[in-house]
Amino acid sequence: MKTKITILGAGNIGGSLAHLIVQAELGDVVLLDIEEGVAKGKALDISQAAPLWISSSSVTGSSDFGSTAHSDIIVVTCGYPRRSGMSRDDLLIANTSVVSNAVRKAAAFSPDALFIVVTNPMDAMAQLTMEVSGFEPRRVVGMGGILDSARFRTFVAWEAGVSPRDVEALVMGGHGDLMVPMPRFTTVKGMPVTELFAKEKIEAIVQRTRQGGAEIVDLLKSGSAYYAPAAAILHMIRSIVSDEKRLLPCSAYLKGEYGAYDVYTGVPIILGNEGIDKIIEIRLNEQERADFIKSVDAVKASVAMMRKAISKV
Ligand code: 2OP
Repeated sequence: MKTKITILGAGNIGGSLAHLIVQAELGDVVLLDIEEGVAKGKALDISQAAPLWISSSSVTGSSDFGSTAHSDIIVVTCGYPRRSGMSRDDLLIANTSVVSNAVRKAAAFSPDALFIVVTNPMDAMAQLTMEVSGFEPRRVVGMGGILDSARFRTFVAWEAGVSPRDVEALVMGGHGDLMVPMPRFTTVKGMPVTELFAKEKIEAIVQRTRQGGAEIVDLLKSGSAYYAPAAAILHMIRSIVSDEKRLLPCSAYLKGEYGAYDVYTGVPIILGNEGIDKIIEIRLNEQERADFIKSVDAVKASVAMMRKAISKV
């Protein structure tokens, strides 16, 4: 039985992800959007590429939530992307209503699905998805840290003059300006970057990673990144579909891990076909802990604003 994957939102990320899933033959896709023409047009276009990839995966475009019924995985990309000069948090009010409506409908048709949340501000939207769907936290995971770590790996590889494949990196905390790139856990073929680069260089790379999304938004002028976000989501889908048990930095609901409670934020997790198998607690040094707590507090502030917005509806 093929995996059924619903993508809520046929924008740049949703369309790119559908394209990657079909190419990788990871399952059959339903691309759902209120703009039915966009969903159907992108689905038709991708379907016509399938013979060239010799892929038997199908992709259907729709605006009818009924077509998403019995999905195994639901990816939440619906909502508004950033424009130049905006922070991810600036999207909170607008995207809270979009995401809660879409998640409520999708969850009703697929009560056994896993949610992967992408819409920004992602950590707050992951908390909203968990609360609106009523699914247990292990089945609601946010995609942020894989993307941020991929950016960190890329900048380190460019600086070291090596393939990005030879770089491992870890970014924790919220998927926002206060995210926590972790040089101590970033290596080039096992060599810590703290041994390879001067402190100032590492700080510059950390800063560029934090601003990685904004750098692209400023260049694109309208809209945000979508190729790397789609590739990051595919990593998660592959780990779920094949039960790979990958250890990945994702936004997970903390119930005391890292000293944080009732908050979604980026931590190392083991991801399998039941969702989050385990949250990995690594020992943080003083600076890392302080940065992590600051990042978690920023997510909590975002969630408090979200709750205020919902209470006014
Ligand atoms: C980014 O960092 C879209 O939040 C995503 O590009």
